[in-house]
Amino acid sequence: MNANLTSHSILVVDDDATNLRMLQEILRPIYKVYAAPSGERALAFLEKQSPDLILLDVEMPGMNGYQVIKKLKENPRFQSIPVLFLTAQEGRDKEETALHLGAVDYILKPITTGIVRARVNLHIELEDYRKRLETLVSQKTESLRNTQDSILDILANVTAWRDSGTGGHIARTTTYTKLVVNCLLEKQHPNYLINPQYGEHIIKSSKLHDIGKVAISDNILLKPGKLTTEEFDEIKKHTTFGAQIISDAIENLGDDSSFLHVAREIVISHHEWWDGSGYPNGLAGNDIPISGRIMAISDIYDSLTSERPYKGIMSHDEAMSIIYRETGGHFDPLMIDLLKDTFLLFEGVEDRFHATD
Ligand SMILES: [Fe+2]
Repeated sequence: MNANLTSHSILVVDDDATNLRMLQEILRPIYKVYAAPSGERALAFLEKQSPDLILLDVEMPGMNGYQVIKKLKENPRFQSIPVLFLTAQEGRDKEETALHLGAVDYILKPITTGIVRARVNLHIELEDYRKRLETLVSQKTESLRNTQDSILDILANVTAWRDSGTGGHIARTTTYTKLVVNCLLEKQHPNYLINPQYGEHIIKSSKLHDIGKVAISDNILLKPGKLTTEEFDEIKKHTTFGAQIISDAIENLGDDSSFLHVAREIVISHHEWWDGSGYPNGLAGNDIPISGRIMAISDIYDSLTSERPYKGIMSHDEAMSIIYRETGGHFDPLMIDLLKDTFLLFEGVEDRFHATD
């Protein structure tokens, strides 16, 4: 027997005082034991303490064992506590009902020390194992998430280092995107019913929006002054190059790639315009993914308020007047309307990042 088991606690529920006392005597040498003489008292006890296992009599006046376990399984706080039924009634249907309701095991009365201890010990060990596994899975998930975030940052920095002057661009656009996503999540407008996971994917993958620029030559990417039509046509290809890079990763990852699907959406659609005059596919209106429409706002706002080889810095008010002027042309009018208050927060972000850019 595991020496640590004494740290576990058991709640014993039985209306028969003799049985209750016997169960306490059997289990006390190993566990901390709490006793409740009815289902109602057991539920009241659980409001204050959470035992590691419950031994529950089936036949009790008032709430019977089946009613008690139903209540436990309905409540997220208690539903994972293992329940063992105690009953004097033999019969497969009783056993089946108990297991169907979520009991982990079934002990027939009259009880014996050996059987009660063996069953309780077994389920306590199983529960310990389950909890350890749960902790391990959540640690591994967290570690995987951190690795994913680091790789994202590395990829985003690769783009930033090639595209002179955009080091802060990725950090700022990610922050603008986060503000926009949070606003849409909060407003729950029927046109933008994004769920929190999609929102998180948009925020994270916004860092990759210009990943395709790694495939654009330096003399075009870093050219000061105005680009020729041919050069601009080359720049436009960063959307399709980027989408291809991500598509290759999706193919390798298979079903595990929901995040990358959102990243590809953003990469391919962040230069589409609401009126259909954008690139690369000339999508219009609601055909442009929400993620792409959000990224267009963050990207353009930051381009306007940052210094680039071909232009100076604009103030927040100047940038906003251009964005409002382009509403319905470049930007989704309803989205811009919903974001009015959020745009006020953009100004502070811009100042904060420019101080360290
Ligand atoms: Fe871009």
